[in-house]
Amino acid sequence: MSAPAGARRGAVLLPAVAAALLALELVALARPSAAAGASGFRCRPGSRPVLFNFGDSNSDTGGMAAARGWHLERPEGRAFFPRPTGRFCDGRLTIDFLCESLNISYLSPFLKALGSNYSSGANFASAGAATSPRDVPFALHIQVQEFLYFRDRSLELIDQGLSGPIDAQGFKNALYMIDIGQNDVNALLSNLPYDQVIAKFPPILSEIEDAVQTLYSNGSRNFWIHGTGALGCLPQKLSIPRKNDSDLDQYGCLKTYNRAAVAFNTALASLCDQLSAQMNDATIVYTDLFPIKYDLIANHTKYGFDKPLMTCCGYGGPPYNYNFNKGCQSKGVTACNDGSKFVSWDGVHLTEAANAIVAKAILSSQYSKPSLKFDQFCRV
Ligand SMILES: *[C@@H]1O[C@H](CO)[C@@H](O)[C@H](O)[C@H]1NC(C)=O
Ligand SMILES: *[C@@H]1O[C@H](CO)[C@@H](O)[C@H](O)[C@H]1NC(C)=O
Ligand SMILES: *[C@@H]1O[C@H](CO)[C@@H](O)[C@H](O)[C@H]1NC(C)=O
Ligand SMILES: *[C@@H]1O[C@H](CO)[C@@H](O)[C@H](O)[C@H]1NC(C)=O
Ligand SMILES: *[C@@H]1O[C@H](CO)[C@@H](O)[C@H](O)[C@H]1NC(C)=O
Repeated sequence: MSAPAGARRGAVLLPAVAAALLALELVALARPSAAAGASGFRCRPGSRPVLFNFGDSNSDTGGMAAARGWHLERPEGRAFFPRPTGRFCDGRLTIDFLCESLNISYLSPFLKALGSNYSSGANFASAGAATSPRDVPFALHIQVQEFLYFRDRSLELIDQGLSGPIDAQGFKNALYMIDIGQNDVNALLSNLPYDQVIAKFPPILSEIEDAVQTLYSNGSRNFWIHGTGALGCLPQKLSIPRKNDSDLDQYGCLKTYNRAAVAFNTALASLCDQLSAQMNDATIVYTDLFPIKYDLIANHTKYGFDKPLMTCCGYGGPPYNYNFNKGCQSKGVTACNDGSKFVSWDGVHLTEAANAIVAKAILSSQYSKPSLKFDQFCRV
């Protein structure tokens, strides 16, 4: 079978535009977070934690595959499930490990008709999703609309005396996670020089702001927002032809891409501060995934990774084993024997081994502001 379009999303890239290397001037608003002093997350006594997630393929547990009817094949999923589940990974995603930490089952994709169980929440994340354009499936705005649809149906069932998966208290006490922006920032970097990329962040951020405000005005109070990762260390980006290696850093990553990711995260962290100040009965935790994912590359030997910049399931051999026209699901592509030695699964997404380390770092609260525990919202 041919590779699903989403598996190759982002593979259609213009040659890297010579990027203007401007000094990063974005300064975080140095304001103490209002949420730090708030009471923190809380669950109704005796209730199970409930989680809703919005995002892209980094946290898609099978939504896009269900929506598009993609028949992903092995080696997807081989390290854990051990079959394809619609995740772009050899096993569990970071969000799966976060669910394990709460002792809840993995989140069912909202659009997966068979075998789903929504009593612990639902996953609206969809491979390829971005914040804009906002009205195309399954942009962040559409994902939030899907959530409102889900909530209304669930409450309607309960009103009718039937069993809805989640009641009004459950929606109110749930944790709302957002992990999006990577596809927006990548698309900009493929087409524009660095300074123009930075100038295009405000509309992306305002979509995230709108999502939080819509959820908040519908009663959501607990938010957990992820920054983007080390885009410049992805084999897919490193495989874009370049004139010379002057844009590579000491670990072999693209400085321009990483600088854009850091700038985006700085702006997103400021937005979270601003939202925390406005919504003083909400708790908004911002967690920066850039240092976590960059550390995987920089300190790869510490984590047992041999080839931090090489794709496990890819084509072409060293240095990156990535080919824009031959993704992991393409014919003739084979995977490495031991995915746990690799950071990158398919050139864009991390291996299960890498996701486990990312989740552990998230759970440490060390990269979060305010530095609340992930399960804080359900401590009674
Ligand atoms: C999950 O279960 C473990 C072991 O029973 C327990 O220590 C932990 O507190 C539980 N976590 C949550 C969030 O309930
Ligand atoms: C759905 O999951 C919940 C919590 O894990 C469980 O109690 C319930 O039995 C499950 N429902 C079905 C239909 O499997
Ligand atoms: C929920 O959000 C929608 C979209 O912003 C809004 O129109 C609606 O009034 C909100 N519902 C409640 C109960 O606040
Ligand atoms: C490397 O390429 C960049 C543009 O991509 C150029 O500005 C720079 O001068 C080149 N450096 C060398 C040593 O050729
Ligand atoms: C590598 O690990 C060291 C020691 O834990 C840490 O101080 C450093 O920040 C890490 N490097 C990167 C780039 O994350």
